[in-house]
Amino acid sequence: MNNFTFYSPTEFIFGKNTQQKTGKTVKRYGGEKVMLVYGGQSAEKSGLIKEITDSLTQEGIDFCVLKGIKPNPTDDRVYEGISLAVKEGINFILAVGGGSVIDTAKAIALGAVYDGDFWDFYCGKATPVAAIPVGVVLTIPAAGSEGSGNTVITRLDGLHKMSVGSSLLRPRFAIMNPELTMTLPWFQTACGVSDMLCHIFERYFSNTPARLVNGYSEAIMRDIMGRALELKVDGNNYDARADIMWAGTIAHNGLCGVGKEEDWASHRIEHEVSAIYDVAHGAGLACIVPAWLSFVAKRNPDMVWQFAINVMGVNPDGLSTEEIIAKGISLLKDFYHDLGLTTSLTDLIGRQPDIEALVRSLEGNMGKTLGYYVPLSMDDCREIYMLAL
Ligand code: NZQ
Ligand code: ZN
Repeated sequence: MNNFTFYSPTEFIFGKNTQQKTGKTVKRYGGEKVMLVYGGQSAEKSGLIKEITDSLTQEGIDFCVLKGIKPNPTDDRVYEGISLAVKEGINFILAVGGGSVIDTAKAIALGAVYDGDFWDFYCGKATPVAAIPVGVVLTIPAAGSEGSGNTVITRLDGLHKMSVGSSLLRPRFAIMNPELTMTLPWFQTACGVSDMLCHIFERYFSNTPARLVNGYSEAIMRDIMGRALELKVDGNNYDARADIMWAGTIAHNGLCGVGKEEDWASHRIEHEVSAIYDVAHGAGLACIVPAWLSFVAKRNPDMVWQFAINVMGVNPDGLSTEEIIAKGISLLKDFYHDLGLTTSLTDLIGRQPDIEALVRSLEGNMGKTLGYYVPLSMDDCREIYMLAL
């Protein structure tokens, strides 16, 4: 295990009816002039927004609204939010939704207290030194942004999806009621499952020895898969919703990566797909991950072999290393298919993607190599896109 610092200051308020505590919690964190940020329609339709605004009003909290944030959020809404935040003099941002809403809130939180362009943080031209505090009411377990210090935004000019991380961006609190996720269309639940699993993969597939972290990471991965299949049968199974919701947070708040060199190549490779073709991030990952695994296992089989046995349940008796790995990857693909997700980019996009455009954009954003479990050249990434077709 490498030396590490793990700082996860977010207060998690988990369980039934917890959204009713929103107003009081915002107040506790000093929110007086609040910007409420939410998505397209689900939270209005379910009555959640009414509950939240009532709860803020009861506490005498003044708020303005930025709504209609779309999946794969774009910079135009961030600029709009920054102007609004400055005009209204807000001192707290409340995000009600999933990764897209939370990431937009975090970008506004950075941009509203910075004199330059908020993109400076995403391109590495500036390091965050201040941010407006953000609180979250989570409605979809997936991106893990409720417990992470990351934000991912797509720049409309050139369709580049870029991210920045800072502990300043970790939400002050995250209110998590699993019942709120019961209105999710199955496809969104499935994409969330694919995303949270991959957040663990990015940390699990590593060359750093870490038996304890690997052990609990394996347990979380097995549980996500088991619970996801239970939810497929009964989407109103509260205990399964609860496990999936908490798993989505601990998959990405850093716990599964402590003391380890992390990889993140699959995410980078996928981000080009969701930026250019506007597909759901988790759906893109279901295509990229099996292709990435097949590719890296040829150069560095050890952790893929362990994953096949300890997570996918392959019985190694009488099988060669290659056979164990092939069976593990094949079972993972079966799992995605059981969720109703395709593992083919061509299927996902509805036509063959422009691989050269994907590789060009990837190189523009990430440079000549990416990943650590197996460092990948752009030719390797091209091959992975081809394997994912
Ligand atoms: O807009 P509405 O109507 O609310 O519909 C949303 C949206 O269409 C719907 N939804 C959310 N909660 C619902 C619901 N529908 C019914 N009932 C509910 N309770 O779900 C759709 C997807 O929402 P979105 O916020 O886009 O999902 P997700 O949480 O998967 O976020 C995806 C974004 O997060 C980024 C991804 O790249 C993508 O842009 N990521 C952010 C990360 C981070 N900040 O740490 C890490 C991740 O790896 C990821 O890259
Ligand atoms: Zn992700």
